[in-house]
Amino acid sequence: MTTVQNILVSGATGLIGKPLCAALKLRGHTVRTLSRSPAGDVQWNLAKGRLDRDAMDGVDVVIHLAGESVVQRWTTAAKQRIIRSRTQSAALLIEAILQQSKHPAFISASGISYYGIEREVIVDESSSMGAGFLADVTRQWEGVAQPLIEADVRTAFMRTGIVLSGQGGALAKMLTPFRLGLGGRIGNGQQQMSWISLPDLVQAYIFAVENESLCGAINAVAPMPVSNAEFTATLGKVLGRPTVFPMPAAIVKMIFGEMGEETVLSNLAVRPQRLTELGFEWQHPELESALLAVIH
Ligand SMILES: NC(=O)c1ccc[n+]([C@@H]2O[C@H](COP(=O)([O-])OP(=O)(O)OC[C@H]3O[C@@H](n4cnc5c(N)ncnc54)[C@H](OP(=O)(O)O)[C@@H]3O)[C@@H](O)[C@H]2O)c1
Repeated sequence: MTTVQNILVSGATGLIGKPLCAALKLRGHTVRTLSRSPAGDVQWNLAKGRLDRDAMDGVDVVIHLAGESVVQRWTTAAKQRIIRSRTQSAALLIEAILQQSKHPAFISASGISYYGIEREVIVDESSSMGAGFLADVTRQWEGVAQPLIEADVRTAFMRTGIVLSGQGGALAKMLTPFRLGLGGRIGNGQQQMSWISLPDLVQAYIFAVENESLCGAINAVAPMPVSNAEFTATLGKVLGRPTVFPMPAAIVKMIFGEMGEETVLSNLAVRPQRLTELGFEWQHPELESALLAVIH
């Protein structure tokens, strides 16, 4: 058994946070949840820049998951909320971390959208940043932690791919149309999708908590990205349904605007180079086994 850690988790009420907190507790760690609502063990008020005074007491690791959902129309106001909910919250945590006599490690969610919208070749953690609004969000979000890196505090960014869960996120939204036999590829179906099962992502966070040498950018994706056409066919197979209704790219752009272009139409094959080198073992390295595990 690894050393028991005291862990503060922001965004603990979300899709990733809930199973992560449960799994951390099962490993014997102590978890303190941080929320905007009384649901958390400790609270913060981001508009007022306030964090409960005792939030960091005895904390060894801070996991920062909080952030406004990107799945909405990207109006100017929505874009600001998406950025600020991540950067202002991170800044508050980082200020509190630096005030502690023993600095807790900082493990933050981030996204593979750091690499942009469209890449012709497979990218890994050494690849350059790409273009687009979400790439800029991750740049600003990760950038807030620079003072921690300068102060030699262990800092890791989990650049997460499409999280597969039957309970929420992109896959859960696809299940109803696919179950009704209304599913199909999106656009020309050639765009690469870099995904990870929710159980594997939870284990990747635990791996990051327990491996004290782990720091920097970590691509949290499965080792085998697939094309959208392959994803569609595999989901149809798992559900036992036909997938003959393609959604043209023009319709995606009309309904979802810029958000659709940067998410479902983006073409990103991401390699989890660091997790592989560090010996992380995926429970679901292949898409079909991942879908079977998360769809109930
Ligand atoms: N799910 C994915 O496919 C995916 C992929 C890449 C990256 N990520 C990143 O991983 C993190 C966690 O993802 P998730 O899917 O678990 O997200 P989620 O289900 O939307 O939960 C995020 C949590 O953040 C807090 N939150 C929501 N809006 C907020 C706001 N305006 N200001 C401050 N806090 C707010 C909420 O906690 P309280 O209500 O308790 O405060 C919420 O439970 C996010 O930052 C997300 O960008 C997720």
